[in-house]
Amino acid sequence: MTERNTSTDSPEKRTAGIAAAGLVSSGMLVGLGTGSTVAYTIKELGRRVREEGLDILGVVTSYQSEMLAIEAGIRLTTLAQHPELDLAIDGADQIDSELRAIKGGGAAHTREKIVSVSAKRFVVTVDESKTSKQLDKLVPVEVLPFAKEPVVKKIRELGGKPQLRSAVKKDGPVITDNGNFVLDVEFGVIKEPEALALQLSSIPGVVGHGIFCNVDELYIGNKDGSVKVITRQK
Ligand code: 5RP
Repeated sequence: MTERNTSTDSPEKRTAGIAAAGLVSSGMLVGLGTGSTVAYTIKELGRRVREEGLDILGVVTSYQSEMLAIEAGIRLTTLAQHPELDLAIDGADQIDSELRAIKGGGAAHTREKIVSVSAKRFVVTVDESKTSKQLDKLVPVEVLPFAKEPVVKKIRELGGKPQLRSAVKKDGPVITDNGNFVLDVEFGVIKEPEALALQLSSIPGVVGHGIFCNVDELYIGNKDGSVKVITRQK
């Protein structure tokens, strides 16, 4: 069991984030993920909007990506106005060889999942430290505050060890952009991510969890400056 990756920056994240921005062309509706890797994607899209006249509409996944996109000059829309997107680009905390990912290091996984499943194509962009043979990082679970204790009990019954995520520079728990708590759950090596995803989704009070089994394409930024692309076999 290893700790969840924190949002540290690196040249590989920059390489990966900018490479994924290359998938975007004028006329697209684009889901904009959250985190330090996709921040590079958003900034690069903003540069292309300003310098190349790229004409896109973005849908954000958090206050962070909203602020970045506005600063970058990307026009925004909502899922209410555009429920089907062409592409969504996001980071991940860990991803395995079958393109199953753990997300939610920034507590934005509920909106990230909604946006990712609303897109025809979901691309994850990471530095090489995020790739792994198997998923074994903490799984973030967003939970309605009212339901925290019953959800904790159910998660323990599934074999998980949940811990309430504490805020930094604020006393008490992290409060998500949706007004909820986050439990970081240790499951050890997750042998069947799809099955665990379904089990977590079926607990009343769970608003969203960080297991993503819908990644279509993975961009990996390497230390040598290259980018490896892996596409899901259909
Ligand atoms: C936020 C996320 C992020 O995409 C994930 O934590 C990766 O972040 P970073 O690119 O900063 O390492 O899921 O909820």
